[in-house]
Amino acid sequence: TQAAFSLKDACEPSINGDGEYADIDWNGLGFGLLPADYMFIMKCSNEENFQEGQICRYGTIELSPSAGVLNYGQGLFEGTKAYRRKEGGIYLFRPDENAIRMQIGAERMCMRSPSIEHFIDAVKQTALANRRWIPPPGKGSLYIRPLLIGSGPILGLAPSPEYTFLVFASPVGNYFKEGTAPLNLYVEDEFHRASRGGAGGVKSITNYSPVLKAMRRAKDKGFSDVLYLDSVNKKNIEEVSSCNIFIVKGNVLSTPATNGTILQGVTRKSIMDIAKDIGYQVEERTVPVDELIDADEVFCTGTAVGVAMVGSITYNGKRTEYKDGPDLVCKKLYSRLVGIQNGIIEDKRDWVVKI
Ligand code: COI
Repeated sequence: TQAAFSLKDACEPSINGDGEYADIDWNGLGFGLLPADYMFIMKCSNEENFQEGQICRYGTIELSPSAGVLNYGQGLFEGTKAYRRKEGGIYLFRPDENAIRMQIGAERMCMRSPSIEHFIDAVKQTALANRRWIPPPGKGSLYIRPLLIGSGPILGLAPSPEYTFLVFASPVGNYFKEGTAPLNLYVEDEFHRASRGGAGGVKSITNYSPVLKAMRRAKDKGFSDVLYLDSVNKKNIEEVSSCNIFIVKGNVLSTPATNGTILQGVTRKSIMDIAKDIGYQVEERTVPVDELIDADEVFCTGTAVGVAMVGSITYNGKRTEYKDGPDLVCKKLYSRLVGIQNGIIEDKRDWVVKI
């Protein structure tokens, strides 16, 4: 176990030596936690803005049992990745989008949030401090997890008197245990991920554990994950537990419109732009579950997930299968996204940030 630390703790030399790479097996990385050496932390009271944070050794944090996050779930998280290019250099992908999304989420959850500059700087510092944990090119990336929590003590339901912004990191490879194999999704009609007027549109920590039961049920039946329906009509697709969803029919890509129940994914947004660039029509709209039956392709997008092809969807006992093949639209889109990230395709929108 790691010792708790306070902000007064000074940075210590890395525990994993000081070679170019941490001493781990870089082959076959999945999405298990391999905590990188350092994390960023800063605190502020509810009366002020975040001022200055610092990089510290990764370790446990002390929290009051009455912290807002523990009692009332006042917390948000983000996910972004740092990666290496073959020719060298460390890069981030659109960290400003994560910073903006955290600010929007903080407004929804009545929390203080770091400024966009502060957020990006903290992500950069965390990536650089942990550079030895960034996998070799082609082996994965460093998943960076910014976390904003109501850390101050509170009893009655109210915003926390203190907030903590933390950034930690872990090297990762494929999110799903299937690796890059097509996913088998189960459409859930009892549990919902989000409801109208709720917090499904922001990255609140409260959106995630309510899906665990549905996920477990689906995984026990051999499915990869769950596709949720809207809670009002129970007939329109919304999201998968950890990612957005797209369907492809002919030249048209459709994805559920972000009406407050859908997370505004950074990969979702990027894939829509890339699809338009290469001549696809993109529709953000209500997508009835019945359209899955006639879709040419279905795929998921997310920072953790990347772009994941769906091989089958089971709804109401009926399984619809989708063909795999080298010419799939989702493969084309993903290789363009990776091409932009790796500098092989022109980054005309300045999405990539060298650090
Ligand atoms: C991400 O894609 O970064 C997420 O936050 C999803 C999470 C459930 C791993």
